[in-house]
Amino acid sequence: LGYFTYDPGYGTTASCKSDITFIDGTEGILRYRGYPIEQLAERSSFLEVSYLLLYGDLPSSTELAAFERDITYHTMVHEQVNTFIGGFHYDAHPMAILSGVIASMAGFYQANLDVNDPAHRELAAKRMIAKMPTVSAAAYRHYMGWPSAYPRNSLNYAERFLHMMFSVPAEAYEVNPVAARALDLLFILHADHEQNASTSTVRLVGSTGANPYACVAAGIAALWGPAHGGANEAVLNMLNEIGDVSRVGEYVKKAKDKNDPFRLMGFGHRVYKNFDPRARIIRKACHDVLADLGQTDPLLDLAMELEKIALEDDYFVERKLYPNVDFYSGIIYKALGIPTSMFTPMFAIGRTVGWVAQWLEQAATPHRIGRPRQIYTGHSARDYVGIDERG
Ligand code: CMC
Repeated sequence: LGYFTYDPGYGTTASCKSDITFIDGTEGILRYRGYPIEQLAERSSFLEVSYLLLYGDLPSSTELAAFERDITYHTMVHEQVNTFIGGFHYDAHPMAILSGVIASMAGFYQANLDVNDPAHRELAAKRMIAKMPTVSAAAYRHYMGWPSAYPRNSLNYAERFLHMMFSVPAEAYEVNPVAARALDLLFILHADHEQNASTSTVRLVGSTGANPYACVAAGIAALWGPAHGGANEAVLNMLNEIGDVSRVGEYVKKAKDKNDPFRLMGFGHRVYKNFDPRARIIRKACHDVLADLGQTDPLLDLAMELEKIALEDDYFVERKLYPNVDFYSGIIYKALGIPTSMFTPMFAIGRTVGWVAQWLEQAATPHRIGRPRQIYTGHSARDYVGIDERG
C-alpha cells in the first residue's frame, strides 16, 4: 500500500487515449484531427472546425450547412435562464455566471440526459456550443444593466455573439466583418488542446457518469484559474499595471525573483518548450486586426518589448518559457471592445467544442472512473484520546 507512481501535476501521465488533438511540444506542433492549426486558422471557420473536432473529418458543404442549421436552431436560452442570471449580483464575474448557468441546464433539459444514448449526447453537445455565446453575452448585459438580447440567427456564429454583446435597442448596430473574422479565428485557436486542466476536469467528472452540463460546468470552473484560461485577463491587467515600456525590465526582474510569487502572465506552458504555435498566429493577427480596424494600441508595443526582453534573458531561455496563447489574445479582444472580465468567457466559448468532443469520445468508449491515488505523508496509526486527556 502506498507505492504508486508519484507524478504531481501529471507531467508524465497519459490519462486517456484520444483521436482528437495532437501536440508536439518540442517542435511547437498543434493539429486537430491531423490538420495543422496554421491551415485551419487561415482557411477554415469556427463551425467547420467544430464539425471536424466532433465528427473526425471535415464536412461536405451539405454536412456543414446542416450542422450550422442545427447550431443556429439551439442558440436561444430558456427565458428562465435570464431570470437566473438576473439573480446574480450585477458585478459577479461572468465566469461565475457561466459555470452556474451551464450546470443549471441539466435542470432545463432533463428529458434528454441519458448519457448512454448517443442521440442525447449529441444534442447536449450541440446545445452547449450554441448557447455558450448567448449566456456569455447575457452575463455582460447583466453587468451593463441592458435588457436581454436575443440571438439573431441570420448572422454567423461570431457575428451573432458580437451582436448580442453590443446591440442596444435604441441604436442600430452593424457587426464589423473584420471584428467577426478576428473572433472566429480566436475561437478556432482555442477550440481544443488535448488534456489541459479544464478538459481533464471534464473527463474526470464525465468518468463518473455525470451529465454533460455538469461536466462542462466543472471545466468552466477549472478554466477560470489564472494558471489556465484566466491568464488572458491577467495578461491585460499586467500590461496595464506595467504601463510603460520603460518599466518592462522591472517586471521581468520581479518574475525571476523566487521570493516573489509574481509570474509573467501569458508566459510558459507545460507542453510547449519551443513556442506555442497559437501565440505566433495571434501575434500576427494582432497587427492585422489593429491595422484593419484603424487602431493603434500602446499595449501591443509593450507586449512585444516584454517578449523581446524575456526571450533574451537566461532565466526564460533555460526554462524554455515562451509567450502562450493568452499573451496576445487580449489585445485583439480589447480592440473589438470586449471588456477584460469577458476575456476568459471568450476562451470558454471557443473551448466548449473541445470539451464536448472529448466528453463524447470518452462516453462512446469503454472507460473506468478516474480515481488517482496518493502518497500518504500523514501520521502512522495512533489511538484516540478523550478530550479531557489531551495535553
Ligand atoms: N514567469 C516566471 N517564471 C515562470 C513562469 C512565468 N510565467 N512560468 C514558469 N516559470 C518558472 C517556474 O517558476 C519554474 O521555475 P523553477 O524551475 O526555478 O522552479 C519553471 O519555470 C517551471 O515552471 P512550472 O510552474 O513547474 O511549470 P508548469 O508546467 O507546472 O506550469 C504554467 C505551466 C503555464 C502554469 C506556468 O508557466 C505559468 O504559471 N504561466 C503563467 C500563467 C499562464 O500564462 N497560463 C496560461 C497557460 S497556456 C493557456 C492555458 O492553459 O490556458
